[in-house]
Amino acid sequence: MASSTPEGLQIRPRHLDFDLPDPLPRHWHSGDAFKSHLFDAMSVLFPDGERFFIDSVRQFRDQITDPTLKEQIRGFIGQEGHHSREHLQYSQRLRDLGYAIEPIERRARGRIRYAQKRLSPQRQLAATAALEHITAIMADQVLREPECLRGAEANMARLWRWHALEETEHKAVAFDVYQQVCGSRRLLRRAMRLATLFFVLDTTRGLVHMLRRDGLLWNWRVWRDGLQWMWGRNGVFRPLLRTYRDFFDSDFHPWQHDNLELLQRVQEEFDPQPHAA
Ligand SMILES: [Fe+2]
Ligand SMILES: [Fe+2]
Repeated sequence: MASSTPEGLQIRPRHLDFDLPDPLPRHWHSGDAFKSHLFDAMSVLFPDGERFFIDSVRQFRDQITDPTLKEQIRGFIGQEGHHSREHLQYSQRLRDLGYAIEPIERRARGRIRYAQKRLSPQRQLAATAALEHITAIMADQVLREPECLRGAEANMARLWRWHALEETEHKAVAFDVYQQVCGSRRLLRRAMRLATLFFVLDTTRGLVHMLRRDGLLWNWRVWRDGLQWMWGRNGVFRPLLRTYRDFFDSDFHPWQHDNLELLQRVQEEFDPQPHAA
């Protein structure tokens, strides 16, 4: 079981240009409203969220002396910065379709502002490490399980796979920084409980808004099929319950979920020459 970041793993932003379809097909994910808007609702939260991640890691940058981790922080900031930009364009496409993205962004932004004003830098970093775990386990599933994006519009699928790949590459950076500058597991577990609550709440709010706008909010078949797809017997989210819980173990490290092989396979898909790892 790997319990530290694999040696030689390189974290660099890829300068990919995504031609997001314009206009975005309303139900770009296999013609399915629920699946499309579940991804959409998460995407809307990313630009502000990722800026918060960058800021919370940056606050500790000067305290890190390990040259490898310093290099990884640079890669992490570069990657999240790029994600943020691509997802802003994604948000614009959603706005063009008539969805009210601003109130969703405003709520997330307000919460981040509150965290930055009221929480200690250690707590902010703990929240980042927690949210990075949530993204990492979802990213792993997106890369591993073809069903996650089966039938999705090709450019959108590529955007999500690119994001999932880089989330996997940098999944331990915030965690490793946290371990060096703070390390309290109690704080980390608390941060995870709150992070989960707000992530689920905000994503659900976005999903509900978009389904309402489509006139599908009270269509019980949409919810039944969607929830079945997420949590049913072969549901794509179901395997995440176990990996999510591992975060609460006292010796947890993101790389104990060793998906380096999967990562390297996907790197080949995106890089002319595979990133050394
Ligand atoms: Fe990201
Ligand atoms: Fe990330």
